[in-house]
Amino acid sequence: MKQTITRALNFKGTPKIPGDKSISHRGLILGALASGKSEVIDILEGEDVQSTARCLRELGVTITKKDNVTTIEGIGLKGFQNPKGDLDCGNSGTTMRVMMGVLAGRNITETLTGDQSLVRRPMKRVSEPLRLMGANFELTNENFAPLTVTGGKIHGIDYDLKIASAQIKTAIIMAALTAEGRTRILGEIGSRDHTERLLPHFGVKIETSPTEINIMGGQTLTPNVVKVPGDPSTAAFWIGAASMIHNSTLELENISLNETRIGCIRVLQRMGAAIDTEITTEKPEPVGKVRVKFASLQGVTISKEEVPSLIDELPLLAVIASQANGVTEVHGAEELRVKESDRLEAIASNLRAMGGTIEVFPDGFRIEGPQKLHGADIQSVHDHRIAMAFSVAGLVATGETTIHDSECVAISYPGFYEALKGLTEK
Ligand code: S3P
Repeated sequence: MKQTITRALNFKGTPKIPGDKSISHRGLILGALASGKSEVIDILEGEDVQSTARCLRELGVTITKKDNVTTIEGIGLKGFQNPKGDLDCGNSGTTMRVMMGVLAGRNITETLTGDQSLVRRPMKRVSEPLRLMGANFELTNENFAPLTVTGGKIHGIDYDLKIASAQIKTAIIMAALTAEGRTRILGEIGSRDHTERLLPHFGVKIETSPTEINIMGGQTLTPNVVKVPGDPSTAAFWIGAASMIHNSTLELENISLNETRIGCIRVLQRMGAAIDTEITTEKPEPVGKVRVKFASLQGVTISKEEVPSLIDELPLLAVIASQANGVTEVHGAEELRVKESDRLEAIASNLRAMGGTIEVFPDGFRIEGPQKLHGADIQSVHDHRIAMAFSVAGLVATGETTIHDSECVAISYPGFYEALKGLTEK
């Protein structure tokens, strides 16, 4: 499928933002592990979350949905049933990596696979710590999926995490729940902390500090209700559009304002954006309002330390940088090369197709703005964030921008194009 985008005169509205993808995955998984009925309210309808639900159902978990309430009959101490076939994780790295941790300590042999993108994404980063805990994994010769996990009796470890990835961190924490003894995670633990916040909500003791995470094995989960706030990574597209387009105003409610997720808002504010945030609920996740108005933007330097808090927003930030005055430079973002696509390449080729210029580094980019963009054929490379970032670019470009393979937005925002139309004046 393709979508055509043209320049917007302004960008205005109060759209409802779909549920947070990371919290939706975790709500389903923790609910599945608890003994009894849990509920996830306002779960994201996106394909990635459906991949997690599909895998859990294959393992014998009953998940039903009525209106905005998803009910999960947790397996508790019963254990999973052996699925009939492979577990298909679709396009979802979070599903595959977190399920590796969930299955590591269970008496089950199971193969996890996924779509053409997911079977080219690095998995050794997860199998390595889980092997140290005693689980068995067979990966392809290139350390990719399809991969087979043979779980069993595992034990806690001290692990020095070298990549600031919440997916790896969560996989180790999930395995730690079924491990004998204590697991300690050190090193790059500053990525999104939804797992650490939600586990106590399910009655699990987990100690966290800026330098380490400690968790004892053998803990059981008590069912609970998880209310999913709007996804700040999804809201970012509208926040970015309103910041760049003259005469724009945007008001959002019920957005996750978790510090580990809003690096993009902080960077935009540093660029001069007129964005106000107000926290209305603190626990288990900070949630609140975001108000945005157009402002003139300046280039910024984004540091390596900030990257985990805005990793999914970097394609959008590249588009915004092309409209800001001066230089924007990012380093320490080599993880972008192993996301749903090589996002650094996808950003560069699509920006150049629109007449923009960019210098690409192995771990980031440099963009000097403001640049005049023109409509072009955009290759989403089946990556939802690339499709959405360049749809926003189409709103500030002259002429027509065509987003190819646009249906991939359904991974995280099924109604993206309808919402975009409702927010723009032509
Ligand atoms: C996610 C973590 C991030 C992010 C992804 C969702 C999660 O990946 O890019 O979209 O839910 O844990 P990494 O933590 O592996 O960088």
